[in-house]
Amino acid sequence: MSSWMPSPEYNKVVEANRRYYAKTAALYDQPECCVTDAHFQSMLTCDLGEILGMLNKPPASIRVLDACGGSGNVTAKLLPLGVHVTLCDVSENLIALFYEKVQPDPAQVTTVHSEIGAFLATTDATFDLIVFSSALHHLEDVEGILSLASQRLAPNGLLYTVFDPTPRADLSLLAAAILRLDYYFFKLHKQPTDFPNAVLRRLRRSVSTGSNSQLVTDDNVGVIAEYHVSSGLDDYALVEQLQQMGLEAVMHFRAHEPSTERTDLPSK
Ligand SMILES: C[S@@+](CC[C@H](N)C(=O)[O-])C[C@H]1O[C@@H](n2cnc3c(N)ncnc32)[C@H](O)[C@@H]1O
Repeated sequence: MSSWMPSPEYNKVVEANRRYYAKTAALYDQPECCVTDAHFQSMLTCDLGEILGMLNKPPASIRVLDACGGSGNVTAKLLPLGVHVTLCDVSENLIALFYEKVQPDPAQVTTVHSEIGAFLATTDATFDLIVFSSALHHLEDVEGILSLASQRLAPNGLLYTVFDPTPRADLSLLAAAILRLDYYFFKLHKQPTDFPNAVLRRLRRSVSTGSNSQLVTDDNVGVIAEYHVSSGLDDYALVEQLQQMGLEAVMHFRAHEPSTERTDLPSK
């Protein structure tokens, strides 16, 4: 049991995620590149196979936590490998979608409908592998959550994070403009009916001031849910923070992929 006192800002981001996925769960598996793109899917499958191999244990004895596991992008790849998975997510809608898609053997999977910090701070369980896939940038206090996760790793356990955007501060104005355009092309291509609304939401956000801009509203719920997407996450700083927590970097690289980036982080 760890002390976990999330800030009001952290809780606001949690609430935004709950609301955002309650609205968009039915569409989740269509536009998400980490779920739909064949290249990312095969990369994820390869990484998971390689990481399980590093654990060097019989699969049936391996305990994995799919942290912020959503509709089971990672869990669905792990179950055929014979390991036990605990999928924790704050969205009951996405957990329901997981059961619809996968129909898992109940002996092999446990789903936990909970905020990840609350779960990590209160569970007694330890895990051989903890995965955050496209998840860290949804959490306001990334370092706090990684610290809690590090305390739930079994001896020689591994932590794997992937599909987070890398820092945007160094981007030129041109690159930032291209990324913005890329978003609107994505909307036009994948969610054409939402395109006019996306433009309107953007306009309303740009004129919203004072207390309105602090509240979670229909206009800003997606932006708040994807809390670190506009700034990106500094993967090099995260590695340092994890090292200070006593973890060792087994693998770390930044891939320059369109729409998503990856980081692989330390083991205990
Ligand atoms: C982009 S989705 C990624 C889902 C899945 N890991 C994947 O690879 O497809 C982000 C997920 O994080 C979950 N999430 C966001 N904040 C959370 C929190 N504080 N606690 C638990 N889950 C959270 C959302 O509900 C959503 O399922």
